[in-house]
Amino acid sequence: MSTAFPNGFLWGAASASAQIEGAYLEDGRTPSIWDTAKKKQVKHGENCHIACDHYHRYKEDVALMKEIGLKSYRFSISWSRVMPEEGRINEKGLRFYSDLVDELIKNDIEPMVTIFHWDMPLWVYKKGGWLSEKIVPLFRDYAKVVVDALSNRVKWWMTINEPGCFIMNGYLQGVHAPFKRNYLALSKLTRNCMLAHAEAVKVIRQYAKQKPMVGVAFSSGAYVPKSESEADIDIARKKSVETGNGLMANRWWMDPMILSKPVKAYGIFSSKEKDMAEICQPLDFIGLNIYSSFNYGDWGDTEKAPEGTPRNSLGWVIDERVMYWNVRFIYERYHLPVMITENGVAANDAVSLDGKVHDPNRTDFLYRYLKELKRAIDEGIPVLGYQHWSIMDNFEWAEGYDPRFGLVFVDYSTQKRIVKDSAWEYSRIIQTNGSCLK
Ligand code: NOJ
Repeated sequence: MSTAFPNGFLWGAASASAQIEGAYLEDGRTPSIWDTAKKKQVKHGENCHIACDHYHRYKEDVALMKEIGLKSYRFSISWSRVMPEEGRINEKGLRFYSDLVDELIKNDIEPMVTIFHWDMPLWVYKKGGWLSEKIVPLFRDYAKVVVDALSNRVKWWMTINEPGCFIMNGYLQGVHAPFKRNYLALSKLTRNCMLAHAEAVKVIRQYAKQKPMVGVAFSSGAYVPKSESEADIDIARKKSVETGNGLMANRWWMDPMILSKPVKAYGIFSSKEKDMAEICQPLDFIGLNIYSSFNYGDWGDTEKAPEGTPRNSLGWVIDERVMYWNVRFIYERYHLPVMITENGVAANDAVSLDGKVHDPNRTDFLYRYLKELKRAIDEGIPVLGYQHWSIMDNFEWAEGYDPRFGLVFVDYSTQKRIVKDSAWEYSRIIQTNGSCLK
């Protein structure tokens, strides 16, 4: 078995507009629902108005990506930057993304675009946001603007990032923008979101100027089996993707969008057979954002993690085995090539006296999770690439700036960037196309 990853494997990193760009009112941009979050809704009252100031520093940031050796970079578009109000295209906003794409290509980095990563324009929200069916044509128009502007150079597309997460956090639990608690609207929210996704897929296929690779980035997860006996694997498989557990994270979205199968949940929520033909549009890959297993705590099971279980700085359990099982169970059910659209670890990184950022735990995390990914690849599962979350420390939504997920450290008071030790290790992994992992 080869020690290397497949040829052309896309070793990359990811980000999202609201989390890094800043420049929230510049060049005609209007606020998103995250720009107007109240102080008490974010950990220390932070906001994302400046964030990493990537809008002004994108060239420097792309130069760092190049130095690390990234082959791809996944980023998202700020809807209110390119469409600050209904029906109006903002050329200056589009220019930013066009320039970013040019800069990436100049540096041999494949651009990968997420059309929607949570920063809904305030004007769309005021029309009802995901609660209103009006979002479907609005989203289609927005997707078309982006595709028209970038598809001559962009091949990789993700329509929506983690629908399960922003619906759950933003509309059910009220902990993310727009901070609503409206459980009873779950079926409606899901339907609007899936229809908007479907429209975007159609727009990309119809208007892209080159053959596109179209997918979605799902928040995913899986149960790690208790042992590798067939019986235990089967229990884990069922709980991960076939029954109600892990619902909002996997099957609730993927069955309708990929298999054209409606899903029923908790007796009162469901997707409808009549919508399936529209919702299920052909995809070229499935994007998986993989962090923790479902076995413990928050993710829906009752089992308590043993004391001292490794966790990241947000308290999420670190268990690299989820990478293999998640990819395997999802591939078995959906048969689509897999792109790891996110995976990474939050830590309390700091600058040491020597001026560097030593983050051995992130390096260890990378090795652990990538070895498990390699196991899936060795078993014949087509995995197209791995986008580490994140290229740089950034605004972690309601958690503010404390959790640092970056390969590059950001000093928010000066905007100075420092490439962390783990990024140099990642660089070595990329240079050897993964052979050094064995
Ligand atoms: C999920 C989201 O897509 C991203 O925005 C977030 O920062 C990371 N995972 C870490 O929580």
